[in-house]
Amino acid sequence: MYLTRLSLTNFRIFSRLDIDVPRRVTLLVGDNGQGKTTVLEAIYFLSTFTSFQASFDRQLISFSASAEPLAVARIVAEFVRADQPQKMEIRIIQESNGNGGLRSRKEILVNNIKRSAQESVGFFNSVLFLPQMMRILEGGPDERRRYLNLMISQAIPGYAQALSDYHQAVTQRNALLKQLGERGGDPDQLIYWDELISRRGAQIMQARIRTIKEIEKIASQIHLTLTQNQEVLRLSYQPAYDPACLESSQAALPMAVDINRENFSLEEISSGMMNRLNKIRREEITRGTTTIGPHRDEMRVLSNRIDLSDYGSRGQVRTALLALKLAEVQWLYQKAGSWPVLLLDETVAELDQKRRQDLLHALDNCDQAILTTAESEQFGVEFLQPRSVWRVQAGRVTKE
Ligand SMILES: Nc1ncnc2c1ncn2[C@@H]1O[C@H](COP(=O)(O)OP(=O)(O)O)[C@@H](O)[C@H]1O
Ligand SMILES: [Mg+2]
Repeated sequence: MYLTRLSLTNFRIFSRLDIDVPRRVTLLVGDNGQGKTTVLEAIYFLSTFTSFQASFDRQLISFSASAEPLAVARIVAEFVRADQPQKMEIRIIQESNGNGGLRSRKEILVNNIKRSAQESVGFFNSVLFLPQMMRILEGGPDERRRYLNLMISQAIPGYAQALSDYHQAVTQRNALLKQLGERGGDPDQLIYWDELISRRGAQIMQARIRTIKEIEKIASQIHLTLTQNQEVLRLSYQPAYDPACLESSQAALPMAVDINRENFSLEEISSGMMNRLNKIRREEITRGTTTIGPHRDEMRVLSNRIDLSDYGSRGQVRTALLALKLAEVQWLYQKAGSWPVLLLDETVAELDQKRRQDLLHALDNCDQAILTTAESEQFGVEFLQPRSVWRVQAGRVTKE
């Protein structure tokens, strides 16, 4: 798929932007703080309805507009998917909450019809490459869960909804656990929540089990190429409730063992999790929190059996990430039937010559890619010549 037109209104530094987007590869060039990353942020928002760098949607509304109590930032995109023209509009609305404060909400229109985020996710697919991506390997397990969630939501129908239901249910369940711990009461009140989180949790776990296997298959091939057949990449899923462990012990299975969890049915996973929750009920009431389930899952990335988060060199981590990201592109293509739009923020600069070639080569397989750089010299004339180059300056974009 590819964007044909992008319009931004009151979106961060852009009070107004209206551009036709070229089909293939576009390079955004400009000094720091001019709005290059913001363009990618807006496009990625169309895929995930969340910003990759703001904690609150309200931060996306331009300073000048958000000075008023009622303010709207708008992203409008026209794109082509499977030869069909499509349109998506997102409005981020800041308004008074009635108590003198402000709140914000989102509206999503798909081909002019209002839809929820859960319904609309997967309609426009993109894959994002960022310098801060190193966090996926170097950060805590929440970074890896986020990586999985953003990827899976785009391709597996129902995943985003299950995730949202699950998180709400865990929050409610935790409140009830605390209340039972502090004030007592009938612990059977938990059954409703146990059932809900087990059912939704099973959906999430099954999607993660399958996706991790599929991504591993693609990424390990790419990784072999990137390392001249020297290093074997593996992904090890470590679910906090593990359907593959015997009920009596949920001690984590060693990473070296390749566990096959693909054949567990939803029913088996959810009833197993229900049982487990029942067994640990007393302990969870004491602790006042839900201790198992997908919100505590982990995924480790290994190269030649070495855990890269703990022992990987920076070069190894970069290579593994590049393999994972390129795998994400192919995986989305397989799932969605069309290429996602590639968004690369300053990522080319930090790669060595060889990796850079591999990455730029991957761009040519896709329908569309948008790259940013502060220094276009890094790309070389052979690369730049046939591409579109845009200069970004103080929230304005001009064709070079
Ligand atoms: N809500 C906002 N309203 C107006 N300007 C903003 C807002 N949020 C960030 N900015 C400005 O946008 C610029 C950052 O843009 P960015 O896309 O990160 O630049 P680049 O990637 O070109 O370095 C900064 O100058 C910052 O002050
Ligand atoms: Mg930037």
